[in-house]
Amino acid sequence: MTENLRAKIEAALAEATDLTTLENLRVSVIGRKGEITDLLKSLGQLPPDERRQAGQAANELRDWATDAITDAKNAIANREQATALATESIDVTLPGKRRKIGRIHPISTTHAQLEALFTRLGFNILEGPHIETVYHNFDALNSPQNHPSRDETDTFYFSDSLLLRCHTSPMQIRVMETQAPPIRIIVPGMTFRRDEIDATHTPAFHQMEGLVVDRGIHFGDLKGMLELIVRELFGPEAKIRLRPSHFPFTEPSAEVDISCYSCKDNSCRVCKGSGWVELWGCGMVHPKVLSMSGIDPEIYSGYAFGLGTDRLTSAVYGIADPRLYFENDMQFLGQF
Ligand code: DAH
Repeated sequence: MTENLRAKIEAALAEATDLTTLENLRVSVIGRKGEITDLLKSLGQLPPDERRQAGQAANELRDWATDAITDAKNAIANREQATALATESIDVTLPGKRRKIGRIHPISTTHAQLEALFTRLGFNILEGPHIETVYHNFDALNSPQNHPSRDETDTFYFSDSLLLRCHTSPMQIRVMETQAPPIRIIVPGMTFRRDEIDATHTPAFHQMEGLVVDRGIHFGDLKGMLELIVRELFGPEAKIRLRPSHFPFTEPSAEVDISCYSCKDNSCRVCKGSGWVELWGCGMVHPKVLSMSGIDPEIYSGYAFGLGTDRLTSAVYGIADPRLYFENDMQFLGQF
């Protein structure tokens, strides 16, 4: 019986030329339901005097088959490897795959620079929610009902009471509602407006809000802070100019211009020949805004500013088009 089986396996081995056939053979002979396995299982039914000899023969057959199939597999694997080595070759002189290492986005660098400055000055850094209530985004900032920025054509609304914040100023309110003065915070983050994408607008952009509320804060404190910010980013030579402006949440309000970073003789497109470039808004916190958030304007005063950090970054590096910030183009981003 074992003789027949052995002859059959030998014949199959002689014909097998690939690893799959050999594996199938192994399963059919010594697998869980293989022929030799079955044979071994059936030994118990033999009369005791035959069992011993038959058992020995079956075990020998199993050991032989195991070795023979393994040897045959090895022989084929070796042959395949020898063929591959002879026919395939690797050109070790080809350049390898270079792994591109990411860079810090220039806007992140501006934020990090300013955050370092404000941390030194004892400010806290906070982030606010992108989805804001109309109350925090407009009402509590003293924005009149007919203010154009409230319009659906200017701001992304989810409902009558929820929107994508159009500035970082609502965090002024969230902080004043929950903290007593003295307050010294900056709020870096993304803001959203329904602007068509063009050479000066992107519907998502970055701002950094600043708020200081304490006893005796005055406009001179604000001006000194603005000069610190500008010198931090543009060097000791940079000068600022304040122009009267209007924001509902500050009184008085001002627009901050910086001496043109692109030319020295009032001659370029960046400053349109004026020698000054408009960078951001600021002012003394409106007494109504303080009292709406539970701070007594008779005791406390404060200043606030809203830096447009995309534009600030463009000014620092001379980047003409803000769309570049959002295109993830490594040719562009790799320069910083
Ligand atoms: N929130 C204003 C804007 O997005 C910018 C701004 C102006 C913020 C004056 C301020 C401020 O805190 O005092 O246009």
